[in-house]
Amino acid sequence: MRRTRQYPWLRDMVAETVVTPHDLILPLFIREEEMDPMIPGLEGIKRLTVSECLHQVEEALRHHIPAVILFPCVPTSLKTMDGDEALNPDNLVCRTLKTLKNAFGNAIGLITDVALDAYTTHGHDGVIQNKRVDNDPTLEKLVRQSLIQVEAGSDIIAPSDMMDGRVTRIRSALDDRGYQDKLIMSYAVKYASTFYETYRAAVGAGKVQDSEHSYLCDKRTYQQDYRNLYESLHEVSLDVNEGADMLLVKPGVLYLDVLHQVKKTFQMPTFVFHLAGEVALLKCASAQGLIRFDEALMETMIAFKRAGADSIITYAALDVAKILLRDAKLYSAYSP
Ligand code: PBG
Repeated sequence: MRRTRQYPWLRDMVAETVVTPHDLILPLFIREEEMDPMIPGLEGIKRLTVSECLHQVEEALRHHIPAVILFPCVPTSLKTMDGDEALNPDNLVCRTLKTLKNAFGNAIGLITDVALDAYTTHGHDGVIQNKRVDNDPTLEKLVRQSLIQVEAGSDIIAPSDMMDGRVTRIRSALDDRGYQDKLIMSYAVKYASTFYETYRAAVGAGKVQDSEHSYLCDKRTYQQDYRNLYESLHEVSLDVNEGADMLLVKPGVLYLDVLHQVKKTFQMPTFVFHLAGEVALLKCASAQGLIRFDEALMETMIAFKRAGADSIITYAALDVAKILLRDAKLYSAYSP
């Protein structure tokens, strides 16, 4: 076996997996002017104002990254029990969408998260009735949230809420309003994971304490049980039948088996979410001198691709793209 491993050119020649900037989606945390830009644990990644977003998207475009996904840090004063700021056509996400669409047209894809957690005081993804997250009243809001987002310029709606039946409802609402061409990237597999804590801190989800709902909010009645694979495949099949255009598996690093099965079984465009918490682990370990960030990051990207990901949502997308440009030979055949 060592014959084919002798030289870099030989290893490149037999390499089975490649990552290019086209395989990346860059998430952006967006904020109002007066909010703190710093994010705990994510050194080098900041919450951006609308105008800073313009620069970041320009940089993504220059690095051949095909799309960005927006996550709003909603001011505490706008959060309520039922998250109705999500339905305000002039909210932070919609204003950012309009600005970006205006500036970039169809040169880069705009993806938006659909869920209520950024807008609710308790941080749950839906509305609470009788002490539980209530499925159908939440669907009504998710549909309206999707519609205002496409009206503002979103190209791809990415529902991350994990309510049952949301893909059908969103698809038919989009079709009825003449948005047949807008896509749905369904969080088809989303496990209830403790690794979301870094993200929740970054967007301030569930930060407003009240007596009944704690900050460390438990989403296990709607997100999937990480002990189950076949249940997840069943759930993916529902989203496929409901009209999802693309499938997303989340978290990433610990769930390569699931990612592989989803790609193999459904053979649809399949994306993976490299979580904020997963990027933070790499950043913390490298800050301690325990690993080299660039190498660890690229190994992670290749692992996602090898497992079956067509594209990777990662907060480190610009780092990956820069590493590829700097050292195209080492990781892929890509050159600009
Ligand atoms: C909310 C949402 C979450 C993430 C994306 N959308 C967290 C959650 O469900 O609590 C996680 C992203 C990350 O961890 O980087 N619907």
